[in-house]
Amino acid sequence: MNILVLGSGGREHAISWKIAQSDKCTKLFVAPGNPGTAQLGEKAANVELGVNDFEGIAKFVQDNAVDMVVVGPEDPLVNGIHDYLIDEAKLDVKVIGPRKGGAQLEGSKDFSKQFMQRQNIPTAGYATFTKDTLEDGFAFLETLKAPYVLKADGLAAGKGVLILNDIKEAKDELKLMLEDAKFGDASSRVVIEEFLDGVEFSVFALTDGKNYVLLPEAKDYKRIGEGDTGLNTGGMGAISPVPFVDEAMMTKVRERIVEPTINGLSSENLPYVGFVFFGLINVNGDPFVIEYNCRMGDPETEVVMPRLKSDFVDLLDAAGSGNLAGKSVEFDNRTASTVMVVSGGYPGSYPKGKSISGLENVENCVVFHAGTKMDGENLVTSGGRVMAFTAYGSDKKEALEQSYEGIKRVCFDGITFRKDIGFDL
Ligand code: AMP
Ligand code: GLY
Repeated sequence: MNILVLGSGGREHAISWKIAQSDKCTKLFVAPGNPGTAQLGEKAANVELGVNDFEGIAKFVQDNAVDMVVVGPEDPLVNGIHDYLIDEAKLDVKVIGPRKGGAQLEGSKDFSKQFMQRQNIPTAGYATFTKDTLEDGFAFLETLKAPYVLKADGLAAGKGVLILNDIKEAKDELKLMLEDAKFGDASSRVVIEEFLDGVEFSVFALTDGKNYVLLPEAKDYKRIGEGDTGLNTGGMGAISPVPFVDEAMMTKVRERIVEPTINGLSSENLPYVGFVFFGLINVNGDPFVIEYNCRMGDPETEVVMPRLKSDFVDLLDAAGSGNLAGKSVEFDNRTASTVMVVSGGYPGSYPKGKSISGLENVENCVVFHAGTKMDGENLVTSGGRVMAFTAYGSDKKEALEQSYEGIKRVCFDGITFRKDIGFDL
């Protein structure tokens, strides 16, 4: 098969790395890709196309006999790339990633909360407000206990969730979101949620719309600072498997969350081919949904793909053809860890174009590129999250030792990383 992966981050590098290992992949294109995806061997090539350039992507698919498009990020899915390629461009291609309707699971928090309510899926209590119901929002906040959780309804690049301890601050922020468009259009509606106290983890399903398989679960570390402090980032590291997610927990997750979600999508006539990312929280032994995403997680994918033993293209092809029934997934029993190195200053402002050296000295790690680019012959930084160092071990400690050993061997000005990934497991 000829396969086109859309995206340019560590997630897309990891997905492409796994796809490139399959004998079923003839050619692999990554648009726009990064210097890591450019080095995946003879069958792989980067393509200069943006993920939201639907016309350009359709033309590329046609001109290069692409059989399957795997969509990495949420943006093009929420914008309707699946519908465009099939209904408008009328291409005979498999698209891994839901149509616009199903992508609303991530594209609208209010939609996803209503969906969970209809399907009886455990999640935090909530109510949704607009500019016209601001006063009702204040009254609703009064009925809750601190901390207060405010969520912009639409996509806000991972920044649209505020957790506040003080009710006055919560009211001020609610007003800023609704009246002053703090997150632009995304906060024209705001979901206010009950706060859930527990430890988070992520579960990933690949579905053809009726059947599903689960990929290895993972836990990510979102805050910039050690001990989970400071600002949220795109993710500073991840571990898989997650020790507290045992057989009993996984059974609850399947029965209470995954199956009602897949069945609900089907019964509500939301055809869904692709990944469902369940952002979950373990509250006293019971799983609740914090959020859905309509794509894989980043940096979770950088530990999930390395733990996948099964042929990934075979699974994707089965999902795209409606044939996932009876498929099983083999996992590598080892622990995988990934640690992100980021630019100094991130997630605030940070410099770009810093020269990266020492990669050739890294051993026992798979390095996934995120914010890197080539400047002539030199590899330089081009984003906040620069590279993910993934390693295996018989346990978390051993895997992390390898990730950190790898990081020691590379250098760029301002290199920053968390030294405590997995600290709470
Ligand atoms: P979200 O974008 O919905 O995943 O929210 C971002 C982060 O905010 C989550 O990963 C959680 O750490 C936190 N969060 C969101 N909703 C809640 C909630 N209801 N209770 C506790 N923490 C939450
Ligand atoms: N790691 C969280 C996310 O991908 O949204």
